[in-house]
Amino acid sequence: MDWEGFVKECKNCTRCGLSNNRQNVVIGRGVPKPCPVLFVGEGPGEQEDIQGEAFVGRAGKLLDILLTALDFNPEHYYIANVVKCRPPDNRIPTWEEMEACLPWLRYQVKFIKPFIIVCLGATAAKAIIDRDAKITQIRGQWVEKGGFLMFPTYHPAAVLRDIRKREDFYLDMKNVKEKLESISGQVHKNT
Ligand code: URA
Ligand code: SF4
Repeated sequence: MDWEGFVKECKNCTRCGLSNNRQNVVIGRGVPKPCPVLFVGEGPGEQEDIQGEAFVGRAGKLLDILLTALDFNPEHYYIANVVKCRPPDNRIPTWEEMEACLPWLRYQVKFIKPFIIVCLGATAAKAIIDRDAKITQIRGQWVEKGGFLMFPTYHPAAVLRDIRKREDFYLDMKNVKEKLESISGQVHKNT
């Protein structure tokens, strides 16, 4: 399946109940081509559902400010979510919903071929790294899994809610940028 085929199928997906209330399936944000970093959030919020684009609300703005401040090249990352349709009232997606949706994320991983997968928040860390993960305990630490360098950090929405998380979130994103630079030799082969 090529990327266009994936987008078409994903936009028509009814594998879980979240399809009932969505306005848009939110595939992700970025240039769909191999790139070294994949950020994974939880699921679309209100603005994302309306606009059909990932991380375009307040949390996304905070993420973008940091990515720009740290001089991330927009061609070097792609941003996706664990579930592609908005959970009602922004509730945490259920395990059934996440399991139904994960094959789409797996397709994106195969296509994008990232070296680094950054889990933004507890939901992504649980879905991708360890079901029992506690984000406050594992954040900021690199984990090698399945041939990827995985890095759990806070969700930017959590940082907006709790100003004390701001410093750690900044340091985590800086850590990711430094790792990206340290593997840039491999990255050039990939992109
Ligand atoms: N929160 C997420 O987890 N994903 C988005 O796309 C927007 C907000
Ligand atoms: Fe399909 Fe994922 Fe949307 Fe559920 S959340 S309907 S699995 S695209």
